[in-house]
Amino acid sequence: MRALFVYCLGLSASVWAQSSTVDAYVASESPIAKAGVLANIGPSGSKSSGAKAGVVIASPSSTNPDYLYTWTRDSSLVFKALIDQYTQGLDTTLRTEIDNFLSAEATVQQVSNPSGTVSTGGLGEPKFNIDLSAFTGAWGRPQRDGPALRATALITYANWLIADGNTSYVSSTVWPVIELDLGYIVTYWNQTGFDLWEEVDSSSFFTTAVQHRSLREGATLATALGDTTLATQYTTQADNILCFLQSYWNPTSLFMTANTGGGRSGKDANTALASIHTFDAAAGCDAVTFQPCSDKALSSLKVYVDAFRTIYTINSGIASNAAVATGRYPEDSYMGGNPWYLTTAAVAEQLYDAIIVWNQTGSIEVTSTSLAFFTQFSSSVAIGVYDSSTTTYSDLLSAVKTFADGFLAIIAEYTPSDGGLSEQYSKSDGSPLSAADLTWSYAATLTAFGARAGVNPASWGASGLTVPSSCSTSGSTVSITFNEYAITVWGENIYLTGSIDALQDWSTSTALLLNTDNYPTWSITLNLPASTTFQYKFIRIYNGVVTWESDPNREYTTPASGSDTINDSWR
Ligand code: NOJ
Ligand code: NOJ
Repeated sequence: MRALFVYCLGLSASVWAQSSTVDAYVASESPIAKAGVLANIGPSGSKSSGAKAGVVIASPSSTNPDYLYTWTRDSSLVFKALIDQYTQGLDTTLRTEIDNFLSAEATVQQVSNPSGTVSTGGLGEPKFNIDLSAFTGAWGRPQRDGPALRATALITYANWLIADGNTSYVSSTVWPVIELDLGYIVTYWNQTGFDLWEEVDSSSFFTTAVQHRSLREGATLATALGDTTLATQYTTQADNILCFLQSYWNPTSLFMTANTGGGRSGKDANTALASIHTFDAAAGCDAVTFQPCSDKALSSLKVYVDAFRTIYTINSGIASNAAVATGRYPEDSYMGGNPWYLTTAAVAEQLYDAIIVWNQTGSIEVTSTSLAFFTQFSSSVAIGVYDSSTTTYSDLLSAVKTFADGFLAIIAEYTPSDGGLSEQYSKSDGSPLSAADLTWSYAATLTAFGARAGVNPASWGASGLTVPSSCSTSGSTVSITFNEYAITVWGENIYLTGSIDALQDWSTSTALLLNTDNYPTWSITLNLPASTTFQYKFIRIYNGVVTWESDPNREYTTPASGSDTINDSWR
């Protein structure tokens, strides 16, 4: 009798079964994932012994791979999830953890490291030792998403504190940390760096998207704190970044190419992660900011997911419009190249975010760009706007919900019985692989579960943005004139060299020649990155022989805007 009943219901019974499987998984895994996150945060997390207060270890795994470090990206994404829970009143116990995180980040910002000092690019350092000392081994550095993700997490906290009447704490303690990160983005967003997977040195969609977001919400916060000069500077560069962001779109293959370099297909979880971490329900399905339900982000999601259908054994036999296990990118070979929990969860989360917006606006739009995404579920669907009163709307909505749940069902299937989430699961048999108890895996399931329940994070101001008609790809620069008083002999010249790219990174062979228009004052005017500290010296070159000025190095910090003149004299 029961078998017959189920048989008659056909497909809908399996859909129902899947949704109750996922319900059960959400119920059992949520507390495990939450505990898994907290266990990896110092000083008292049960798996993070040795980590300073507020420090998130990537994983307790100390060999093969050794992840017992703290990455700014992982930590900031994890704390964004915790700060969202706290500020939305979903967990009021997290305040101490959040304040610990804030002070740990304030400390680590000041730690000189192989990427530089706090004012010469050091904020782009991807990872530190768990006692917050610098990690000095070889690594893919810098990685320029970290400061943006950290700023976004802390801005969410700052906005809540201000609404709670605690503006003075924000001004004295939170804002200085945020301001350094935003200043870093203003200066460096147009320079290349390593992608979120730490492999490709180029520009990267995820990095650009999260930089854009943080400057937008940073501008709003700066205004709230009364600094309109900084707010304008952030907005100017956010406009430029938004322009640049559009260039990742591949109009022929209809997806966002993950990296400007790297020589790969460009299909990458990078773009789904960017969509979920820049989700702003107030922006609807805006394609300029690649919102989760935008036609571009949905098309890109399909292209990305489809790239994994045939490369993993565990995906074989799965219908071409059903969920599959997904990894970082199809060419991945790290640890054998397997699906990752956090990337599979990101697909589900993007779809749940889309559903949040469709429910809110009461319509689904199908465009020529998103048509292939939607025809997966209904071959007859046509371009158009479907109001919530139509059956097309309800059919598509429930098909997308089923598709989304499918990704969590895959994670559920390959979660071991103790609920522990490692970094990867085997493409051959789904067993856990690579770093155990990856903090980011736990956070990624928690945010996907939240989105499934309809929780949407605070708006960051994505609504109503337009791409400026003319785009500038230069970071903010200031005009600096260097005057050096130096008596020279005929044939002898004065040059400038220093610690930043624009000053030739201490090279003597490519040092910058000063002019003699006002001899004996030698002079040169340069456009240098704003708000940047560097060291420099003048050198004399005569008959190929280089003579340096005496020590110590000269040091200077450029202003945030405008111009300046430095007057020095040979020593
Ligand atoms: C370690 C990095 O964390 C990982 O992302 C990368 O794939 C491997 N190194 C190989 O480069
Ligand atoms: C390797 C991943 O590719 C990278 O994104 C992450 O930050 C580190 N592992 C630490 O989890």
